[in-house]
Amino acid sequence: MSKQILVTGGTGYIGSHTVVELQKEGFDVVIVDNLSNSRIEVLDNIEKITGIRPAFEQFDLAERDKTDAFFQKYPNIEAIIHFAAHKAVGESVGKPLMYYRNNLVSLMNLLECMKKYDVANMVFSSSCTVYGQPATLPVTESTPRQEAESPYGNTKAICEDIMRDFCKATDSLNCIALRYFNPIGAHESGLIGEFPVGIPNNLVPFITQTAAGLRDELKIFGDDYNTADGTAIRDYINVVDLSKAHVVAINRLLNNKNKKNYEYFNVGTGNGYSVMQLVKTFIEVTGVQLKYQVVERRTGDIEKIYADTSIANNELGWHAEKSLEETLATAWNWEKNVRNID
Ligand code: NAD
Ligand code: WQD
Repeated sequence: MSKQILVTGGTGYIGSHTVVELQKEGFDVVIVDNLSNSRIEVLDNIEKITGIRPAFEQFDLAERDKTDAFFQKYPNIEAIIHFAAHKAVGESVGKPLMYYRNNLVSLMNLLECMKKYDVANMVFSSSCTVYGQPATLPVTESTPRQEAESPYGNTKAICEDIMRDFCKATDSLNCIALRYFNPIGAHESGLIGEFPVGIPNNLVPFITQTAAGLRDELKIFGDDYNTADGTAIRDYINVVDLSKAHVVAINRLLNNKNKKNYEYFNVGTGNGYSVMQLVKTFIEVTGVQLKYQVVERRTGDIEKIYADTSIANNELGWHAEKSLEETLATAWNWEKNVRNID
């Protein structure tokens, strides 16, 4: 019988791609999502890709009684991938309690239920935001974390600490935190991808929406950074590659290959690209013209970050495979499909 995995936030951007990869590997997926930042149609598109419609339950994981009822209804869950969280950095500055309540309470509810209902394994979505601007690059897992720039970033650091402490107190529990760098791109089918609500904050959706004519021009935030072309550097990781890292992490837990009961890994490519390099690559790959201008730096942005992926490569046996060119092509393909552009 195939192993049953709960994917929270499974109709969201990274969650939906991970559901596809899990189903391809033969897992039986159950999604929980309150649809606060995703759409129910994602289930149809997952089904179009894999031929399998995942089970779906719509509720808020910050509600303990509903979370409890879920585990009573699904007694065979063997592992959880916990994506569900609010993630807009700017919004979190204005609404810190909404972020702390949603992101911390939903994790604590899940951990309590894991103990109560004997679910041993969890993979958690963390972020390179926990490193802030590191003093040295690339960032390894032992690079010290720094005080968060935003309440959102702080929820990731606190969630990591909650898992670490709860794992210390609970031998039977095993958790892996994956610290994602900058996820971009979409599934090659063009059926699932990133669907931001309102004006996108992140670079790639802003680029694709500008290319599609929804936005007048891209604003490049700062060209006076200490980098070759003056624009900021990030480690952009293909969302399907990132999703595969979750399947590897789940298999590590289910096969008892983890070395400690709380582990954390960087998930990036190891390559840093500047904003200008990314914009130029997008134009080259798609042949689409993109209007852009350089403006002031964005408050809270760091200058450069990219991952040392050797631990993920050697210990997990996972590597990022897709190039920036391929990845940007999938992002544009997805945007065209969503906007009905030929
Ligand atoms: P997303 O918003 O597309 O997906 C999150 C999903 O969780 C949404 O479908 C939303 O409706 C759901 N959700 C939120 N709160 C919920 C709750 N209380 N109960 C039930 N469902 C809830 O975001 P994403 O980009 O797919 O990110 C997934 C995870 O990865 C998040 O934890 C995010 O913080 C983390 N992460 C994302 C990035 C990124 O750049 N996208 C980078 C690092 C880490
Ligand atoms: C990338 C680069 C911008 C938009 C955020 C979160 C982080 C993580 C990933 C969740 C930066 C520049 C952007 C635009 C631009 N998420 N930019 N014009 O800021 O690295 O990280 O998402 O954990 O926590 O903070 O990603 O895509 O917003 O920006 O010039 O319109 O693009 O200044 O240098 P960021 P991003």
